[in-house]
Amino acid sequence: MSGRSSLTVVLAAGEGTRMRSSLPKVLHPVAGQSLLSHVLAAAPRGAGQALAVVVGPDRDDVAAAARAARPDAAIFIQRERLGTAHALLAAREALAKGYDDLIVVFGDTPLISAATLQRMREPLANGSAVVALGFQAADPTGYGRLLTDGDRLKAIREHADASAAERAITLCNGGVMALDGKVALALLDKIGNANAKGEYYLPDAVTIANAQGLKASVIETTEDEVRGINTKTQLAEAEAVMQRRLRDAAMEQGVTLIAPETVYLSADTKFGKDVMIEPFVVLGAGVEIEDGAVVHSFTHAVQTKIGRNASVGPYARLRPGTVLGEGAKIGNFVETKAAAIDAGAKVSHLTYIGDAHIGANANIGAGTITCNYDGFDKHHTEIGEGAFVGSNSALVAPVTIGAGAYVGSGSVVTQDVPADALRVERAEQTTKDGWAKRFREMKLRAKADKAAKSKGK
Ligand code: UD1
Ligand code: MG
Repeated sequence: MSGRSSLTVVLAAGEGTRMRSSLPKVLHPVAGQSLLSHVLAAAPRGAGQALAVVVGPDRDDVAAAARAARPDAAIFIQRERLGTAHALLAAREALAKGYDDLIVVFGDTPLISAATLQRMREPLANGSAVVALGFQAADPTGYGRLLTDGDRLKAIREHADASAAERAITLCNGGVMALDGKVALALLDKIGNANAKGEYYLPDAVTIANAQGLKASVIETTEDEVRGINTKTQLAEAEAVMQRRLRDAAMEQGVTLIAPETVYLSADTKFGKDVMIEPFVVLGAGVEIEDGAVVHSFTHAVQTKIGRNASVGPYARLRPGTVLGEGAKIGNFVETKAAAIDAGAKVSHLTYIGDAHIGANANIGAGTITCNYDGFDKHHTEIGEGAFVGSNSALVAPVTIGAGAYVGSGSVVTQDVPADALRVERAEQTTKDGWAKRFREMKLRAKADKAAKSKGK
C-alpha cells in the first residue's frame, strides 16, 4: 500500500452494559492489554497513517488509554449513541482532511490483525469505494448479512431488518469497513435511520455506493478475527483465541512449552532463543525472558526481565521491577519486587526480596526477608557481590551488606555490615544435660498414674 495515506477510526463509544462491570468495555484486558489497545496495535502506523478514536461522553479513561497506546491518536466524542455511521461522523473533522483510505474498526474486536486491515486496502487501491470484511458465521444471528452479486457487494442487511431468505445467508459483516477517502464523507452524509433500530447504520454506505454506480466489495476472514466482545463469556473466548496465537508464535520462535495450554502469556511477552517454560506458568504484562532461561512450574511474573540462562521457580512470584542477571537463580516460594539480582546470584528458597540490589554470585539463604516497609515508606537493601546471607535472616532496610560479608543464620540486621565481615546476632545458648530424658520420664509416669486411677473407679 505504498504511498497511500490512511485514517483509521476506532469506534469505542459502546456502553457494554452486558459486561456487568464498572470498567468500560473496551478497557477490559485480553492477554494483559485492553481490547482497545489490541485494536490500536493493528491500525496502520507510520508516515501518512493517522488514527482517531471515538469515545462516549465523559469517557476520559478510554481517551487516556487510547493516547497511552498511540500518542498520535485524535480523540472525538460521540455525544448520543445513534449508530455506527453516526459514531464515525463524530470524527468528521479528521475525515475531512482527505486521506486516501478510511478504515473503520470497532473497539471491541481485539483479534483483528494488521495484515487483514492492509488486505482491505487493496480493493480501494483498485477502484472499490467501499470494502466490507466478511466471514462465514457458524451462527449468523445478530450479524449484518452480506448481499453479494458475483464479486460485488450490493448491500448489508442488519439482522433486525432482514427477510427470512436473507437471514439464511451465512456470509456476515465482521464490522470492519474500508472506504475510499475521497467519497467517504459524501456517502456517510446520505445514510439515514429508517430501519428497525432507528440507527444510522454504517453498512448502509454499501447501498448508497451502489446507487451511485460505485463498486463495493468483500474481503473474507475467519470468524475468530472479528469476534466482538459483549459479555464476559465472549471475553474469555477471545482470551483463549489470543492465548493460542501467542503460544503458537512463541513455539514458532523456538520457545519450548511443555504444556502450552497451561501457560498464559501477554501480548508483549518477549522471548530469546532456547527458552523453556514448564507447565502452569503465568507471564503478565512486561515480561522479557532471555536466551536459555528456564521457568519452572507455577511461576507468576509481571514486569520482569529474566536474564540469560537464569532459572526461576517452581512457585516463584516475580513482581514488577524484577531484573535477573545471567545465570541467576530464584527458587521455590520466593517473592521479588523492584529487585535487581545480578549474574550468578542465588535466592533458592522461601524468601522475600523487595526494593533491593543483590550483587553477582551472592547467596541468600532460605527464609531471608528484606524488611523494606516501616508502615510509611519503602527502603532499599543493598547486598554486595559474593555476600552470604544465612537462613532466616531479617534485613531491616535501609541497610547494606558489604561485598563478601557473611550474615549468620537467624540474624536481624539493622546496621550496615562491612565488606568481608561476619555479622551474627544470636542469644547465648545453654545446654541442660539429660533434661529431655528426665522430662519424658516424668510425663510418662503422670500418664500411667492417671490411667491406673480411672481404672480403679
Ligand atoms: C455491527 C454491524 C453488523 C455487523 C456487526 C459485527 C452496524 C449497524 N452493524 O452490528 O453489520 O455484523 O457489527 O459485529 O454497524 N458504536 C458506537 N456508537 C454507536 C453505535 C455503535 O461507538 O452509536 C460502536 C460500538 O461501541 C461497537 C461498534 O460501534 O464497538 C459496533 O456497534 P454494535 O452496536 O455492537 O453493532 P452490532 O449490532 O454488533
Ligand atoms: Mg456488536
